[in-house]
Parts: sequence; structure tokens; C-alpha cells
Amino acid sequence: MRSKIDAVSGKRNFHARQFLPGFLLRFYAKIRGMNEILPHVLELKEDDRTFEHPALAAGGAPIELEIGCGNGRFIAARAAKNPDQTYLAVERMMERLRKCSRKAQQGALHNLTFVRVEAGRFVRELLPDHCVKAMYLFFPDPWPKRRHHKNRFFQREMCDTLCRIFVPKGIMYISTDHEDYFKEMYKYLTEDPRFDEIAPLIREEDEQTDFERLFLSKGDPIYHCAFQLR
Ligand SMILES: C[S@@+](CC[C@H](N)C(=O)[O-])C[C@H]1O[C@@H](n2cnc3c(N)ncnc32)[C@H](O)[C@@H]1O
Repeated sequence: MRSKIDAVSGKRNFHARQFLPGFLLRFYAKIRGMNEILPHVLELKEDDRTFEHPALAAGGAPIELEIGCGNGRFIAARAAKNPDQTYLAVERMMERLRKCSRKAQQGALHNLTFVRVEAGRFVRELLPDHCVKAMYLFFPDPWPKRRHHKNRFFQREMCDTLCRIFVPKGIMYISTDHEDYFKEMYKYLTEDPRFDEIAPLIREEDEQTDFERLFLSKGDPIYHCAFQLR
């Protein structure tokens, strides 16, 4: 059962934001205390305690979610190919979200919403229970120094969060160039009896992320894995 969620931003406003003219979007941003508002982008404020999206209403079909989507190359390509699937993508950098917004507008991707929020808080605290069928984590910031490891998105506790937000058979897809971070995530997931390892997602060129293309062009190794909730 999904948890009940309260309205924070007003569902009607949220829908309208994808179609409103610029001056109305700027006015909306002003009254919500935001710097900028972009079509297809929902910005959460630090004191928002709930997240409402039409696709997360009780009884809705499960969503697919990308964490740290960068310029949105992967998720925009996916959303264009699967118009009946709802996609959310989390990113915190405004300049990247501008590019994401442009891609979604150009492709008229009304099944894709970008969310500006801290990704860890979003999955731990704001997503309702059992609403995600696939989560994509591609080239997350590795925080290479040991004293910074605590900042990594995927800690051991993330396995518990996945169990809460995933529907049965939900899949976690991971790709990274960072061997140490990869080994850590792989260890957490293989040690957790609630997950089975499955074939990773090796993407065709049109679905490769910008960081992936950069590493591939340099000939760097890339590590992929995927785990499915039992
Ligand atoms: C190394 S980049 C990879 C981007 C993209 N996945 C790709 O492969 O091209 C990591 C991305 O995650 C975003 N990011 C990092 N930490 C985040 C957080 N805590 N919340 C939301 N986004 C985050 C960064 O802004 C950046 O765009």
C-alpha cells in the first residue's frame, strides 16, 4: 500500500506549469520563493515535507526514477521511447536542469518530470512507499576521499530505502567509472538477501549519459550492475 501524501505545491499548478507562458512561470516562481522556474521542472524547497505528483497518486502505475540525471540525456531518450511510462529524474544543479527542461520541451515529453531536490532526502523522506519500478544511478559523484564517503548517495542503508520505495521486482541499475564506489555498492547489494543480481543495462549510444560518453571516449573502464528486489 502506498502511504498517503499531502499536497505541497497544488496539483493543478503543477500540471499547468508545463504549458504556462514565461511571465506566468516567473510570477509563480516569485510567489513560491524560487529563483527560476522551468517547464518540466519541479523545485522542492528545503522545508517541503511531502511531494505530490499525479503519477504518485494511490493506485497509479509505478514510476521509473533517475538519480543525478545531469543534462538528462538518458532519461529524455527513455521517456521518448516509452510514452506510457512516467519518469522522474532528480538533479540539483540549475544549469543542468535548464538543459533537461529544454530536452523535455523539444521532445514534448509530458511523461517526464525533473525534480530539483537533494536526491538522498528525496528517496528517503519524500517518495511514498512502493511507487518505483526502476531506479537508475549513473556516474554518481564518487567522493573519493575516505572522509567524504559519508556524502555518497549509495550507503548501506539505501538498500532499506529501496525496499520501501520499490514495488516487488523493482530494479536498481548502476553504472560508474569509479571502481572503489562500484565495489562498495555491489557489496551492499550482494550481501542483502532481499535482492538478486540480474543482467546490467548496457545502453545503446542514444541512451548513454554525457559522463558515460566522456569516459568511453577516453577508453576508461565502466562498471555496470543491476539488482532486482525479490
Ligand atoms: C557525475 S554527474 C553524472 C551526471 C549523469 N548521471 C551522467 O552520467 O552524465 C553527477 C550528477 O549528480 C548530481 N548530484 C550529485 N549529488 C546530488 C544530490 N545529492 N542530489 C541531487 N543531484 C545530485 C550532480 O549535480 C550531477 O549532475
